[in-house]
Amino acid sequence: MELHIYKDAQAVSTAAATLIAARVIGQPDCVLGLATGSTPLATYRRLIELYRSGVVDFSRVTTFNLDEYRGLESAHPQSYHHFMQENLFRHVNVDRERIHIPSGNGDEDAVCRTYEEQLAQAGGIDLQLLGIGRNGHIAFNEPADHFPAATHIVELTASTIEANRRFFDSAEAVPRRAVTMGVGTILRARAILLLAAGADKADAIHAMVHGEITPRCPASALRLHPNTVVLLDEAAAARL
Ligand code: F6R
Repeated sequence: MELHIYKDAQAVSTAAATLIAARVIGQPDCVLGLATGSTPLATYRRLIELYRSGVVDFSRVTTFNLDEYRGLESAHPQSYHHFMQENLFRHVNVDRERIHIPSGNGDEDAVCRTYEEQLAQAGGIDLQLLGIGRNGHIAFNEPADHFPAATHIVELTASTIEANRRFFDSAEAVPRRAVTMGVGTILRARAILLLAAGADKADAIHAMVHGEITPRCPASALRLHPNTVVLLDEAAAARL
């Protein structure tokens, strides 16, 4: 695990966008794993700028998102389908046929199985972008007693529902279930780029870097991955 510490969140985002753009330029048909949440927003804005200025071309890139709520239609304003559309996809030239986000609807087993099959058909993920939850979750892999190997359905924890309620009218409106890549799916990516900014991530970053490798802190599994780069601002790195 390689750590880089930047002054602030903006510098983290600029560095992340630069690494992603370099990957796409060097490997135009790469498979990118993408995340939602607040953390990657400025990175996506910077990638859009780089696309508009002709630096990067997404036309041959394939994307796979980490996760999606269960029970929200794709067009729901809080669905991750909608998030990706609004914050990245509609602003760049990604081929719509090459975008993959697990479905929030339909038979749960079939959704999970199909997603893993699509990942395998695409040849796996070249570069996976990640945020981290305050409890150390990655994607929707919450603290648990094992590391889930593959895409699966989860019940969201109270802390994740609370953290995400800011996007909904009330905590009651936050979906209780989600579909997510497993920790194993993430570890199969050939390279991982985790971003974190802000003091509220400092405990999770400390646990990820210095704590025990345990499914109680899902992000700690990234220490087992041979090619993980972590970009932090000073506040998120404060406990290292
Ligand atoms: C998003 C995801 C989540 C977030 C995490 C941090 O697709 O899988 O694990 O990365 O909850 O969220 P933010 O960035 O909003 O702090």
